[in-house]
Amino acid sequence: GAAVTADISKLETGQLIRVEWRGKPVWVVKRSLESLELLPTINNQLADPESEDDQQPVYAQNIHRSKKPEIFVAVGICTHLGCSPTYIPTEFAAHVKGVDSGFFCPCHGSTYDLAGRVFSGVPAPKNLQIPPYMFLDDNTLMIG
Ligand code: FES
Repeated sequence: GAAVTADISKLETGQLIRVEWRGKPVWVVKRSLESLELLPTINNQLADPESEDDQQPVYAQNIHRSKKPEIFVAVGICTHLGCSPTYIPTEFAAHVKGVDSGFFCPCHGSTYDLAGRVFSGVPAPKNLQIPPYMFLDDNTLMIG
């Protein structure tokens, strides 16, 4: 499959854009520093906080699950049965204390944090997949 590029020069903090890659939705989210600081504080609510059970690029094997901390790139497909979760920029606090954003799958209620890490006790078995990607320059992301 061919790689695709995305212009992220206008991506604002909190914003999510979708890019299609190999027929799949790929999300690109610009996260705030505050939301990055929250990530390690909720590890005890997650099924696999260190993503030990997931195949993912080496550069995503960190607490942010990303190459650049603020830019999150993930395949937007629920690891349960393949629905596409909804991005919740602010209202996620209603679901999980201390978390101000994340992803909610409307099909069977799985929830993921802003690093695509799945919460405990939901149907989805794994964290969201991180696709291969690289930055061609500060404003251009290449997926694939
Ligand atoms: Fe997402 Fe079932 S497909 S919870």
